[in-house]
Amino acid sequence: MTTTLARPRVSADSYDDAPRVSDNGQFANEQDARGYEWRHSTVVAGAPWKNPVGTASGTFNLEACGRFYDVSQMGAVSTKGVSPIPWEGNPTPRTAESPSGMVNAVGLQNPGVDHYLVDELPKLKALGATVITNVAGHSDDDYAQVVEKLADSAADMLEINVSCPNVSHGGLSVGSDPLVLGRLIERLRKLTTKPMVVKLTPNVTDIVPIARAAVDAGADALSLINTLIGVKIDVETGNPVIANVTGGVSGPAIKPIAVAMVWKTRQALPHIPIIGIGGISTAEDALEHLYAGANAVEVGAAALLDPVAPLRIAEDLERALDKRPELAEKLRNGQTWR
Ligand SMILES: Cc1cc2nc3c(=O)[nH]c(=O)nc-3n(C[C@H](O)[C@H](O)[C@H](O)COP(=O)(O)O)c2cc1C
Repeated sequence: MTTTLARPRVSADSYDDAPRVSDNGQFANEQDARGYEWRHSTVVAGAPWKNPVGTASGTFNLEACGRFYDVSQMGAVSTKGVSPIPWEGNPTPRTAESPSGMVNAVGLQNPGVDHYLVDELPKLKALGATVITNVAGHSDDDYAQVVEKLADSAADMLEINVSCPNVSHGGLSVGSDPLVLGRLIERLRKLTTKPMVVKLTPNVTDIVPIARAAVDAGADALSLINTLIGVKIDVETGNPVIANVTGGVSGPAIKPIAVAMVWKTRQALPHIPIIGIGGISTAEDALEHLYAGANAVEVGAAALLDPVAPLRIAEDLERALDKRPELAEKLRNGQTWR
């Protein structure tokens, strides 16, 4: 059975046949919205994805995105980072445009794991979404508390964001030191049987020893990359635009860096599932990550420009994979192009 996908009213001519989002945010035709059968699925660390495209953490929010499309149609949705207690985030301004991208220092603002467990997670699961819960922490204990609380939850996968500044590691991110990262992942591994994805930071000299340390300590998959450190200066005032001074650079500008890191990691670790992230705003961008060796991808900053970008990319990739049966078959079987 094949019906139309849930899409927003962003362009009346291209989306005429789509189920409609009503004023209260519900799909006018839930049956249609959920009835679509994807032809090209993938599997990441044993977790089935309807298609190879997910949303990237921090750029997806059910309240906002659910008004535009049926979120259950994504391969998976990665939530905003969840911390042990509510975090307010950084002072404003927190975002700025940059050439072919943006800089952000939102600072992991979120209402905390207890709220997440009774609010966003049950809502996402009720809609039928495959959920990757992104985990944030400023110390090893923070991560452990969150993972412990998520262990028996309905989350399909956990994604450990090891880019956060860590007080147990002198303010550096744990993801920048293989020994420190290995120790953390070993501790978390004992707390959960859920597929555990470790999300790597690109702000390192060589990603390979870091990736290897995560895998040796028990990671079931890797996602890469998080944002690159950047600063934007206001040339009228001579001061940084972002209150936090530094932020994370994302968007098309970082795609070649992300693809290089996926490539290098795949060469070094032929069997670990990889989710490619960074600069994906078209199906061709997604294909670059997949041909570099990723099993799936996540779309980040592109969704801030066009909320429906992740679903559009998934649909375009579906057609692109029709023409690439060898790649499609590998992904379906949990294998990769290289
Ligand atoms: C506004 C914003 C907030 C983000 N918040 C998180 C977060 O909470 N946890 C995380 O692991 N990554 C976070 N990221 C990083 C993205 O998930 C992604 O790794 C990065 O932006 C690169 O992908 P892109 O070029 O497609 O945006 C955030 C990115 C942006 C732009």
